[in-house]
Amino acid sequence: MNMVKIFSGIRPSGKLHLGNYLGAIKNWIELQNKADQVIFMIADYHAITTPYDPKTYQQQIMDVALDYLAAGIDPDKALLIRQSKVPQHTELAWIFNTITSVGWLDRLPTYKEQLEKTGINNMGLLDYPVLMAADILLYKSNLVPVGEDQVAHIDVTNEIAKRFNSAFGETFEPVKPHLEEGARIMSLQNPAKKMSKTSDEGIALSDNPDIIRSKIKKAVTDSGKEIKYDPDEKSAITNLLTVYHLLSGKEIKTIEKEYDGKSYSDFKNDLAETAVNFLKPFQEKRKEFENNPKKVLEILEKSEEKSRQLADKNLSEIKKKMGLI
Ligand code: TRP
Repeated sequence: MNMVKIFSGIRPSGKLHLGNYLGAIKNWIELQNKADQVIFMIADYHAITTPYDPKTYQQQIMDVALDYLAAGIDPDKALLIRQSKVPQHTELAWIFNTITSVGWLDRLPTYKEQLEKTGINNMGLLDYPVLMAADILLYKSNLVPVGEDQVAHIDVTNEIAKRFNSAFGETFEPVKPHLEEGARIMSLQNPAKKMSKTSDEGIALSDNPDIIRSKIKKAVTDSGKEIKYDPDEKSAITNLLTVYHLLSGKEIKTIEKEYDGKSYSDFKNDLAETAVNFLKPFQEKRKEFENNPKKVLEILEKSEEKSRQLADKNLSEIKKKMGLI
C-alpha cells in the first residue's frame, strides 16, 4: 500500500477558536494516528503577505504552537514546524516559480478577494500558492487536510507537480485535499458568517470562563423563543444548537426536547457551562505548555531539524533532475 503522508499549514493570525477546533483540528488529531508521515506547519512566511504587526508576530506564532499542542498534536507522531525555520520551503518555491504559469495564479478567487479587500497587490500574494505547493511537495506529501477555500490552491500544487514530472521525470504523486467533515461553526454575532478570530464573534480556545459566559450571553438569537434546529428560519439558534451538540455529544433532537418550554437564556446558560467544562482540560494543558516555553521551543526545534533532513533529501533529488547539481 502507498504511504500516507500528511501535510497541513495554518496562518499564525490569532488564537484558535472553537470553530477551528470543531471544524478542523479535531480531524487533524485523529489523522495523526493513521499516517506514515505527518507534518503541521505554522505558515509564518505566508501570513506576511497581508498586513500584520511585527511587534507581536513572534507571540502570535507561539500562541498557535501552544494551541496545537494543547489540542492534542502529539510530537511523537507529528512534526510541528515554523515555515521560516526550514529554508528549503522558500528555496523550492523559487524553483517552482520557474515552471508555474502566471495564468494559474492571477485568476484564483483567494487572490482576487485579497486584492479587493486590501488593495495591496504584492508579488507574495500572487505567489502564495506556489509557496504552498513547495510546502507540500518538499516532503512528497499526498494528503492535505484543508478547508474548502484552499482546494483551488491544491489544484495549483497538482499542476506544478504534473509539469515537473513531465519536464524532469516522474517525481511527485498526486496530492489529495482531505476536506474537513467537521461542522461549519458560525459567528456568534452574525450566523451568516463563519466564526472568525476577531473579538466577540468567536470563542477562543483560551478564553477564560467569564469571557466565555459573556460571549455566549451576548450571542445573537432569532425572533420567537423556541429552541429549534431550523437553518433557514432560526440560523442563530441552529448554530448554538450545533455547538452544544458537538461539545456535549448529545443529539440535537435530545437537546431540543430538553429545552422544550425553556427560554433562550436557560439554554444559553447551560451552553456556556458546557463550553467552559469542555475547554477546561485543553486550557489546563495549554497552561502547562505556557509555563514551560523551553519545552515548546524544544518540540519545535526538534521537528524543524527533522524536517530539514527530509527536505534536504527531496530537494537534492529535485535539483539533480533539474541539472542544478
Ligand atoms: N494557505 C493555508 C491557509 O490559509 C495555510 C497553508 C500554508 C497551507 N501552506 C499550506 C495549508 C500547505 C495546506 C498546505 O489556510
